[in-house]
Amino acid sequence: MVFLPFILISSIINIARGMPVGPDISFPLKSSLVWDQKVKSQLKMLKNFSPQGASRGIVIASPSRHEPDYYFHWVRDAAISYDVALQIYSDSNDGGIRSSLRDFSFDYVYLNQRIQNDSRAMTGLGEPKFYVDGSPYGFRFSDWGRPQNDGPALRAINYVMLYQTVVRENWAERDRLLPLIYDSTYPSNALLKKDLEFVARHWRDTSVDLWEEVRGNHFFTLLVQRKALLMGADLAATLQDPGAAFYYRTEAEKIKVEIESLWNPQAGYIFASRFEGDAGRYRESRLDTAVLFGALAGDYVDGFMAPYDDRVLATLHRLREVFGSIYQINQNSTFGPALGRYPEDVYDGVSTSIGNPWFIGTQAGAEIFYRTYIHLKGVGRININSVNLQFYQSLVKDSAWLHPGMSLCPKDGLFHKITDQLRIEGDKMLARTLYHGGEDGSLSEQMNRYSGYMQGANDLTWSHASYLSAYYWREMSFQR
Ligand code: NOJ
Ligand code: NOJ
Repeated sequence: MVFLPFILISSIINIARGMPVGPDISFPLKSSLVWDQKVKSQLKMLKNFSPQGASRGIVIASPSRHEPDYYFHWVRDAAISYDVALQIYSDSNDGGIRSSLRDFSFDYVYLNQRIQNDSRAMTGLGEPKFYVDGSPYGFRFSDWGRPQNDGPALRAINYVMLYQTVVRENWAERDRLLPLIYDSTYPSNALLKKDLEFVARHWRDTSVDLWEEVRGNHFFTLLVQRKALLMGADLAATLQDPGAAFYYRTEAEKIKVEIESLWNPQAGYIFASRFEGDAGRYRESRLDTAVLFGALAGDYVDGFMAPYDDRVLATLHRLREVFGSIYQINQNSTFGPALGRYPEDVYDGVSTSIGNPWFIGTQAGAEIFYRTYIHLKGVGRININSVNLQFYQSLVKDSAWLHPGMSLCPKDGLFHKITDQLRIEGDKMLARTLYHGGEDGSLSEQMNRYSGYMQGANDLTWSHASYLSAYYWREMSFQR
């Protein structure tokens, strides 16, 4: 009974506030709007790298210190954002940005040297969260969701990319930096080698998922672990460490089998997790945008479970349908559906009530569309089958046009109808950010499912990183 008036009042408030009055957005999307957000997201993301008052090398998840307190270094958020930062570094011809990212790279390496060796970390390398002075969060809060074993894998991917960057650009400090990252001794204290050995030995262990809630084996975690091992193996092979290369590849092959088993043909989508015990009781559907993040962050050159994989596309399709119907803001179909974490989610950004769409989920959806576009234009063929049928049908006017067994190539008009629509759907999802984001380019964690107003931690570093990533792939799609 306390509830009803509350719901009434809050819905009246929402109706009164209406949807935020965002910029006037029409399709095709104006490149100036997309660019403008890119510039702002870049500034705002980098502002959260080594902010004043924090140790150098720290990436805060958000400047918010209260309701919610996100003023911490999360290994996952930091690694995903640093990945984008390296891309900015390579792409930019702005000397200022390049030299500050170069400096930051050293700080990031030194910080990780500290956090990877801190004996207070209760779960060792799987420790997910640190104070801004670099000390582990876990040693004061023992009942918190640890370990999160995606961390060492994401960090390892960072190091391989940094290693390649340093060699490619022949940094003056290369002889000092590279041995800190990799050496072929065993056991090794080099950062990358340490994380790789951990991943190779512990990928079977259950750990807490990327949403920091439930224990099990997770698609996201397994896929980034696989990618880390394969990238690590490639590097080990060039560094005359063939034994390690062989070991990492062998483990990566075994992980692959585990990942494949999460595809559920009856449900028609990839299950996000195999939960430990009854940990999945609040996640009955197993449908989760974590799968999209896995496909994006775990994409290795061999195309396994890549963003354009039929099973990933089938999962994206289902996520769009389900979130499309449960979030009220999605009734406005000028834009693509805004996606949340998983349908049963109750985290509202501060505490628990009701879940909302997230910027990162929605932008991940957009990025999958752009990357699928690029892939299909590259291979010049679309094979329709029972797994991807519904996804592709959702892109054409008349679903009867498509049936399993069809093979389309660029001389077929339908090939172009589909590929053109892929980019449009990507843009329609990206438009959610332009519409619901702040005028100054700020992006929080969530948008309210009724009103569309931003909610949760403000200027979430990951929200900006994920916009930038989608932005880069969108740009690349124009070069095809
Ligand atoms: C609870 C949320 O469900 C979880 O995903 C999040 O990481 C923490 N709170 C943040 O403090
Ligand atoms: C909550 C998210 O669930 C988690 O993935 C993230 O690491 C933290 N917030 C910090 O942004």
